[in-house]
Amino acid sequence: MFKLVFATNNLNKLNEVSNMLPENVELLTLEQIGCLEDIPETHDTLEENALQKARYVYEKYGLNCFADDTGLEVDALDGRPGVHSAHYAGDQRDSHNNMDKLLKELEHIDNRNARFRTVIALILDGEELLFNGIAEGEIIKEKHGEGGFGYDPIFLPEGYQQTFAQMPLKQKNQISHRYKAIKMFADYLMSLNYF
Ligand code: IMP
Repeated sequence: MFKLVFATNNLNKLNEVSNMLPENVELLTLEQIGCLEDIPETHDTLEENALQKARYVYEKYGLNCFADDTGLEVDALDGRPGVHSAHYAGDQRDSHNNMDKLLKELEHIDNRNARFRTVIALILDGEELLFNGIAEGEIIKEKHGEGGFGYDPIFLPEGYQQTFAQMPLKQKNQISHRYKAIKMFADYLMSLNYF
């Protein structure tokens, strides 16, 4: 088996990724390698934050590793909340407060274009690679739907009539930013000789 650390302890993310990777990849979480501390995420871009997490594991534990970072980028707000998406309205990471803050900022703004972007940073034997998955859409004026998480109730993906929170999870997972980034990453791994 080829051991690869996913710099996360989020089991939902782990399952989503593990279903798409080559069969001989053994995915390890941070907990499984004994990394119990919070890895710093101190940068202003998704790319730098994802790389920072992957480098931390590669340098400290000497294991091949990948890490992800996701943000919602709103054009009229110069790309905010971006790297601050999780705690846009404060440290408590409350999705409803985050959405309320965003809706208030966009109250009198016509340009509602936005995108979710997931960056995956991979370090394989010291070589660093980035994969970028994008879901384009717009921020609607009110929350719709109960499914999903985060900003899903106010995000209408381009070409669809339902928000990410209204559509079945299976459908969201076929068009999402995270799916697209994972797919590119998985295709890259498949193209290598070890798999
Ligand atoms: P993370 O990098 O995956 O932890 O994502 C950071 C933040 O972006 C989350 O806390 C959510 O607020 C937001 N986010 C990420 N992915 C999604 C999504 O698929 N739907 C809605 N919000 C998301």
